[in-house]
Amino acid sequence: MKGKIGAFIAVLVLAVATANPGYAQDAEHGKTIFKACAACHATDHANRVGPGLEGIVGRKAGTVPGFRYSDAMKKFGIIWDVKILDAYLESPQKVVPGNRMPYAGLNDPTDRTDLVTYLATLK
Ligand code: HEC
Repeated sequence: MKGKIGAFIAVLVLAVATANPGYAQDAEHGKTIFKACAACHATDHANRVGPGLEGIVGRKAGTVPGFRYSDAMKKFGIIWDVKILDAYLESPQKVVPGNRMPYAGLNDPTDRTDLVTYLATLK
């Protein structure tokens, strides 16, 4: 019985998730959240305080030419995807300990999803 209720709730959650207003709108919201990142990050390949974020989804961590990454970021060695970006933006120091990005993290999961959706449009 308990299992059935669990399955029902899972279906319900899925239904709510797919009823989401849609990609364009999320990215639009993500763009407004990105203002907090824009102080340090350009949306092209230009390096500022932080590396340019063009093509970040699908790019290897720590590889923008000419940017002086921390050893932690250079050694991280992962290909940024939506999932790992979400985790990194929630808690940069937890995911890449010792990295030099002065950002505490974004708590709201919806804001993070929208932000990462926006980041995926930077190509
Ligand atoms: C105060 C400056 C600053 C802010 C604000 C900031 N970052 Fe960063 N970011 C950095 C620095 C510096 C690095 C490089 C860290 C390192 O080398 O350890 C970095 C690295 C990154 C990386 C890894 C890039 C790569 O090439 O591997 C991503 C992704 C990233 N930041 C996304 C964001 C997002 C999204 C936001 C907004 C929520 C944000 N950052 C806010 C300074 C900042």
